[in-house]
Amino acid sequence: MKISVLGLGYVGLPLAAAIAKLTDHNVQGYDIDSSKVNSIKQGVSPIDDEQCAKDLKEITLNVSDESSSLTDTDIFIVCVPTPVLDDYMPDLTPVIGAVTEVCNHLKKGNVIIVESTINPGVCDEVLIPLVEEKTGMKAGVDFDLAHCPERINPGDPKWNVYNIPRNIGSTSAEATKRTADLYREFIDAEINEMPSLKTAEATKIIENTFRDINIAFVNELAKSFDVLDIDLKTVIDAAANKPFAFMAHYPSCGVGGHCIPVDPYYLIERAKQSGFDHKFLKLAREINNSMPAYTIGLLADELNEFARAIKGTKIALLGLSYKANVGDIRQSPSLVMRKELHDKGAVLTVFDPHFPDRSNVDSLDEALEGVTAVVIATDHTEFKSLTPEYFQSKGVKVVIDGKNCLDKVAFDNSKIAYKGIGR
Ligand SMILES: NC(=O)c1ccc[n+]([C@@H]2O[C@H](COP(=O)([O-])OP(=O)(O)OC[C@H]3O[C@@H](n4cnc5c(N)ncnc54)[C@H](O)[C@@H]3O)[C@@H](O)[C@H]2O)c1
Repeated sequence: MKISVLGLGYVGLPLAAAIAKLTDHNVQGYDIDSSKVNSIKQGVSPIDDEQCAKDLKEITLNVSDESSSLTDTDIFIVCVPTPVLDDYMPDLTPVIGAVTEVCNHLKKGNVIIVESTINPGVCDEVLIPLVEEKTGMKAGVDFDLAHCPERINPGDPKWNVYNIPRNIGSTSAEATKRTADLYREFIDAEINEMPSLKTAEATKIIENTFRDINIAFVNELAKSFDVLDIDLKTVIDAAANKPFAFMAHYPSCGVGGHCIPVDPYYLIERAKQSGFDHKFLKLAREINNSMPAYTIGLLADELNEFARAIKGTKIALLGLSYKANVGDIRQSPSLVMRKELHDKGAVLTVFDPHFPDRSNVDSLDEALEGVTAVVIATDHTEFKSLTPEYFQSKGVKVVIDGKNCLDKVAFDNSKIAYKGIGR
C-alpha cells in the first residue's frame, strides 16, 4: 500500500519513519514547510527526537512539499497542528487544509487516519461532512475515516512511537480493525479498538486535561505553601510513596508545549457549544497561565529584599524551551516571562543552548556576567548542575528556580537568596 503522512513534525516524522522502517509499505511524507522537507532529504531530523534521528540514518524516506506526491495513496495519515488562536479558540484551519488536500487525491476504498489531537465530534461533525461534500463519496461506504490520537512524548528515552499503546476509532468496527492491524505492523504495544470516533477523540483530550488539572492543583498548592512556608516538593515526594491512588505532579513557572496548555480549550469550547460550562477545566487553565507572572512576582519580592527593583537590574533568563533538553518553544512560559521582564524594564540576558539564535549571548558564562538575579525557566541538563558557588563567583544575589531543579539545601548555606516554586 502507499501510505502518505501529511505533516512531518514531532508526530508525523517519527511515525512515517517507523512505518517505512518496519513495514513493506511505500511511505510518502508530505509537508508544506520546504525547509523541513529539505532537511529530511539530507537525512537530518528537523525535530529533537533521538529515535527519529537514528531511524532517518537507517532508512531513506520519500518526502516532498508538493501535493502531487500524494497521488495514488491508499492510506492518508494527517499529523498537522491543532493550535489555539490568541483568544484560546481552537484553530482547525491546518486540519481542514490537510483534509481538503486529501480530498483532491481520494479514491474509493481509501482510508484517512487523523492523528492530530481534536475534540470529540471533529471527525463526525467537521471532517466527514467536509470529505463527503468535496468528493461526493460516502464515509463507511466509499472511504473510511479513522482517528488514532498520537501520544508521543518527544525526548522521552523510554516511550516512543514503537512502544506506546494506541486507541483507534473509525467509521465501522471492520474499518477500526483494519486500521488497528496496520498499526500492529510497527507498534509493539496494545492497539485498542474503540467503539467510535468520538470516544477515541475524547480519550486523548481527557489524558491531556487530566495532566493540566493535576498540574494546576500543585501550582495552586505552591502559592498556598509559599504563604504557609512549607516546602511543597518535599511534601509531594513524601505523598508519592503511597503505593496507590496518588500520582506525583510538580509545580513550575508554567505549562508549555503544543498539547497540555492547548487541548483543554478544545473540550471547553465544544462542550460550551452544547450548553455545558467546564468550570474546573477553565480554572485549571487560569491557574497554569498565571504561573509565569507569579514567578516574576517572586523575583520582585526577592529583589526587594536587596532594595532593588526589576527595572534597571541586570537579570539572566535561563532557558527558552518549554521542556528540558528539547528545542521546542511552543507556548513556552519562558516567552511570557521574557516579555514581562522586558516590559518591566529589566536589563535582560537570555540563554538557551537549544536556541542559540534566540539567545542574546553566546554562553552560560556570558549570560551570568554581572547579573544580580537569575531566573531558571527550563530544567536543561546544563542548568541543573549549577551551584551556589558558581552563582556567587558571578556576583549573583537572587536565584529564582522556576523548575525546582537546583539543590535547595546547598543554597541554604550560601549568601544567595534562592526561591523555588512552592519551596
Ligand atoms: N508534539 C507532541 O508532543 C504531540 C504529542 C501528541 C499529539 N500531538 C498532536 O499532534 C499534532 C501535530 O503536532 P506536532 O507536534 O507534530 O506539530 P508540528 O508543528 O511539529 O508539525 C506539524 C507539521 O505539519 C505541517 N503542516 C501544517 N499544515 C499542513 C498541511 N496542510 N499539509 C501538510 N503539512 C502541514 C507543518 O509544516 C509542520 O511541519 C497536533 O494536533 C498535536 O496536538 C503532538
